[in-house]
Amino acid sequence: AIERTLSIIKPDATRRSLTGKINARFEEAGLRFVAQKRIRLTKEQAEQFYSVHAERSFFGELVAFMISGPVVVQVLEGENAVARNREIMGATNPANAAPGTIRADFAESVEANSVHGSDSAENAAIEIAYFFAGTELVG
Ligand code: CMP
Repeated sequence: AIERTLSIIKPDATRRSLTGKINARFEEAGLRFVAQKRIRLTKEQAEQFYSVHAERSFFGELVAFMISGPVVVQVLEGENAVARNREIMGATNPANAAPGTIRADFAESVEANSVHGSDSAENAAIEIAYFFAGTELVG
């Protein structure tokens, strides 16, 4: 089915001017951009976005990292977009990411892992609504 998913290009990747290279991978894999904006997350936004991880030992560092520079939040659309995006990203820890994936090729560490992608269609809807109004999604 045609789905939408939320993707975030993280501060380690914007700092290294990797936005274009990462976006090309999404488009080459058949995912289309229906929304995209470059923003700086506030601490409150980052804490709320990652609130499922609030009890994890890395939460404070994760939030600090996500507000350390600009991010690009984007909505990708395509066939099985949630799973497709996760394939292209590779495993969370770049040490475990398959060759040719974004994280294998670009990520610096499990924290500075270049991209975020929604983990389910249900969470994608929540995450998309967190950053975009319906009128900003242009299919
Ligand atoms: P993301 O898909 O954005 O969701 C939560 C993030 O926490 C994850 O990617 C990682 O970048 C980050 N993170 C930092 N440290 C860890 C860790 N030890 N284990 C898992 N995720 C971590």
